[in-house]
Amino acid sequence: MLVRSTLTLFGFILLSCVYKTTTDKPCAARQIPRESVVCVCNSTYCDDFIREPPEDDSYVMYTSNKAGLRFEKEIKGFQKVGDKHCLYCSEIHLELDPSVTFQKVEGFGGAVTDAAAINWKSLNPALQYYIIKSYYTNEGVEYNMARVPIGGTDFSTRTYAYNEFPVDDANLTNFHLAPEDYKLKIPMIWAIQNASQVPIHIVSSTWSPPPWMKTNNAFTGFSRLKEAYYQTYADYHLKFIQKYEAEGIPIWGITTTNEPINGIFHLTSFNSLGWTVNQLGKWIVNHLGPTIRNSTHNHIKILTCDDQRFTVPFFFNMMLHEHPEALKIIDGIAVHSYNDFITPASVLNFVTKYYPDKFIISTEASEGSFPWQNNVVLGSWDRAESYIHDILEDLNHDVVGWIDWNLCLDLAGGPNWESNFVDSPILVNARDQEFYKQPMFYALGQVSKLVPRNSTRIQVTETKSFFQRSVKHVAFVTPRNTTVLVLYNSGKAQSVTVKCVDVVAKLNLTAHSITTIEFKTRKEPEMKLEDLLTP
Ligand SMILES: *[C@@H]1O[C@H](CO)[C@@H](O)[C@H](O)[C@H]1NC(C)=O
Ligand SMILES: *[C@@H]1O[C@H](CO)[C@@H](O)[C@H](O)[C@H]1NC(C)=O
Ligand SMILES: *[C@@H]1O[C@H](CO)[C@@H](O)[C@H](O)[C@H]1NC(C)=O
Ligand SMILES: *[C@@H]1O[C@H](CO)[C@@H](O)[C@H](O)[C@H]1NC(C)=O
Ligand SMILES: *[C@@H]1O[C@H](CO)[C@@H](O)[C@H](O)[C@H]1NC(C)=O
Ligand SMILES: *[C@@H]1O[C@H](CO)[C@@H](O)[C@H](O)[C@H]1NC(C)=O
Ligand SMILES: *[C@@H]1O[C@H](CO)[C@@H](O)[C@H](O)[C@H]1NC(C)=O
Repeated sequence: MLVRSTLTLFGFILLSCVYKTTTDKPCAARQIPRESVVCVCNSTYCDDFIREPPEDDSYVMYTSNKAGLRFEKEIKGFQKVGDKHCLYCSEIHLELDPSVTFQKVEGFGGAVTDAAAINWKSLNPALQYYIIKSYYTNEGVEYNMARVPIGGTDFSTRTYAYNEFPVDDANLTNFHLAPEDYKLKIPMIWAIQNASQVPIHIVSSTWSPPPWMKTNNAFTGFSRLKEAYYQTYADYHLKFIQKYEAEGIPIWGITTTNEPINGIFHLTSFNSLGWTVNQLGKWIVNHLGPTIRNSTHNHIKILTCDDQRFTVPFFFNMMLHEHPEALKIIDGIAVHSYNDFITPASVLNFVTKYYPDKFIISTEASEGSFPWQNNVVLGSWDRAESYIHDILEDLNHDVVGWIDWNLCLDLAGGPNWESNFVDSPILVNARDQEFYKQPMFYALGQVSKLVPRNSTRIQVTETKSFFQRSVKHVAFVTPRNTTVLVLYNSGKAQSVTVKCVDVVAKLNLTAHSITTIEFKTRKEPEMKLEDLLTP
């Protein structure tokens, strides 16, 4: 009896210890006046961090915050349900229920645009590797997806498409990849594939086909695809897929043109193609679908919409009303995050509710694109919060992945032929041969690193007083047999009690912080016969 209570006491002290691991290379922090810190990487130093696999009765906690913590790692002991403690005395109580499950995760990533690759190539080989390692390896944030434009975008130094000449070449007799593919994007993708431990799932999208396929014979402005070239535009996609495959780069999915409403309302002045939902449905059903599904690349995911969240109901209601067969062809819906503040995320539930075999993936997001914003705000924690807010909201509405826009940009947020500069999680300073990992990088990483492909979202129930500001959260069970909970605290320091099956963790969340905890997945303890027999 004495022995047992001594052991329990000893065990409790052991588990209650907080200890830190020291293998990570800390952030070389540079404080930006009035903002948070950026982590500086130069030719000989770049911060990194490895995931610490959790032990049986403890959890691993990672924190990034406005005050300057970046993936700060701690290992802490659990309390057991039934131990003497105060389960509901924290301001907020979260209960995880692994038996209630939702969508399966595809992954996280960023875009290999011409601009990203130009900046990457402007660095020396050591720094080039540090960028790839920061994003795509186990010492970084473990991205496993990428978006690769088909031809040019505004984040190119010129307007271009494939087979621009000869014009009216319906058979695409002159389809070659561009110098930007061979010199910029392909080498960067090879470096990513080489460094990554998992297959990279690449989503590709056309911004604009060659002008001769379009009604306005231009890269930008009001436009439609000429009906005579509906089949040609489908072939254009298949040829791109074949050319990339020949370079050793398998394409996982394509979208049915980037942001089609830009070419309908002339919302932007960069490369675009306008599609009405009716025309797009017709093209998918009669041309794109048969072309892809009859090819050796028939497994490629076909994603439609690829536009702002508010367009989702139009795509489903209108396209399927006119062209119900499109449902057999498309695998899912791609959404962009730019106008999320005007559209409730509940529009996404519409998809999973009525079309449960279709998935939703976020294929583009960036900060600083609106006229009232600065394009780049070095060290901005607000932008990290904007990212994590959107990611958690999407994940809680069945989105299976989140792909960022440009992997890296220069200090002005370019290059961009149309001066449509935006911010990026990594900014490159070619003159001084260094780059800066911004707060947005760590915000995305707090999710991407610990939520691997095939993780399944589970239910979290929050209990709090009416006036208490809630902490945003999302939880998953991972194929590593662990449970991961991501928490975003948008205000002052806050304590939170987390319960999962038979364990309890009391967390102190720092002000303006993102915290991820990981622990071994708990199973309901099995009833033993002797427990029943013992009086
Ligand atoms: C690179 O960064 C490390 C860590 O901040 C620093 O000690 C070193 O002096 C830097 N090297 C150069 C060449 O600036
Ligand atoms: C495209 O090729 C087909 C068969 O190879 C041919 O019949 C047709 O005339 C060609 N079309 C054009 C516009 O060159
Ligand atoms: C591939 O990765 C290894 C390290 O894993 C590195 O030494 C090599 O330079 C890389 N090769 C390319 C082409 O990036
Ligand atoms: C393959 O092509 C044929 C003829 O164009 C078409 O009828 C059929 O539906 C296509 N198959 C698929 C799976 O799309
Ligand atoms: C994810 O699940 C799919 C389908 O079950 C499987 O083919 C794939 O290997 C899994 N990937 C990982 C990384 O677990
Ligand atoms: C997770 O648990 C299952 C069943 O308990 C086991 O088959 C599988 O190998 C485990 N996976 C890992 C990565 O530990
Ligand atoms: C949280 O903060 C309280 C009050 O400062 C402290 O007593 C407690 O030990 C902290 N808990 C953890 C898990 O750090």
